[in-house]
Amino acid sequence: MNPLKVLLIGAGGTLGRAVHTALRERGHEVVTASRKDADVHVDITDPESVRAMYEAVGPVDAVACAAGSVPWRPLGELTTADVRAGLEGKAVSQIELVRQGAARLPAHASFTLITGILAREPLLSGSVASLANGAVEAFVRAAAIELPGRQRVNAVSPTVFTESLGVYGDTFAGFDPVPVARAANAYVKSVEGHRTGEIFRVE
Ligand SMILES: NC(=O)c1ccc[n+]([C@@H]2O[C@H](COP(=O)([O-])OP(=O)(O)OC[C@H]3O[C@@H](n4cnc5c(N)ncnc54)[C@H](OP(=O)(O)O)[C@@H]3O)[C@@H](O)[C@H]2O)c1
Repeated sequence: MNPLKVLLIGAGGTLGRAVHTALRERGHEVVTASRKDADVHVDITDPESVRAMYEAVGPVDAVACAAGSVPWRPLGELTTADVRAGLEGKAVSQIELVRQGAARLPAHASFTLITGILAREPLLSGSVASLANGAVEAFVRAAAIELPGRQRVNAVSPTVFTESLGVYGDTFAGFDPVPVARAANAYVKSVEGHRTGEIFRVE
């Protein structure tokens, strides 16, 4: 297919590096964005920063987000601030990419967001992660029928990555991890394909 210009947020992370590699291998031009060490600096929890990023980058064919953070804490210790931080860090932030991008990007542009298996499988201390992932997935299904032109939106929803087992310790005991390259391939499917409103599970 013709090379696309893709704006990749979180390109320096475990997932982002793999998505970067996969998109480059497919011949696409990738513009990286994150809070540091990227072509463009952005904090996706700050709507003004998202606006400045879109202004700096100009039109792109696709936006791929591999960033988003949530606090992990037992329910009994959760504060209101934790709940808000999780929603801001993973849901509102990614929704803002779509909300602002929809108005700025071409009629054929696509958005690929990140969620995760906690949207469907609960884990101790993961209630805010489940909340944020579920919110993003519900938004994707709803936004797909309202985006202008032929714009598309999907989410990639992976289980834990083999490469991240060291970070999460025993949290995902009993889960079958997947190589992060498989999640990156789901981004390629979303970016190059024609589907919209879908949650691409990788597990
Ligand atoms: N790791 C797993 O096993 C796994 C499995 C399923 C789903 N996920 C999800 O995949 C996403 C990425 O996970 P990861 O393990 O790759 O994380 P990671 O290694 O910590 O990388 C996160 C990346 O996002 C950027 N970032 C973080 N907050 C940002 C913000 N507010 N604005 C802009 N950029 C930001 C970081 O760069 P800067 O610090 O420079 O901003 C970094 O490049 C997360 O939402 C996670 O829940 C991960």
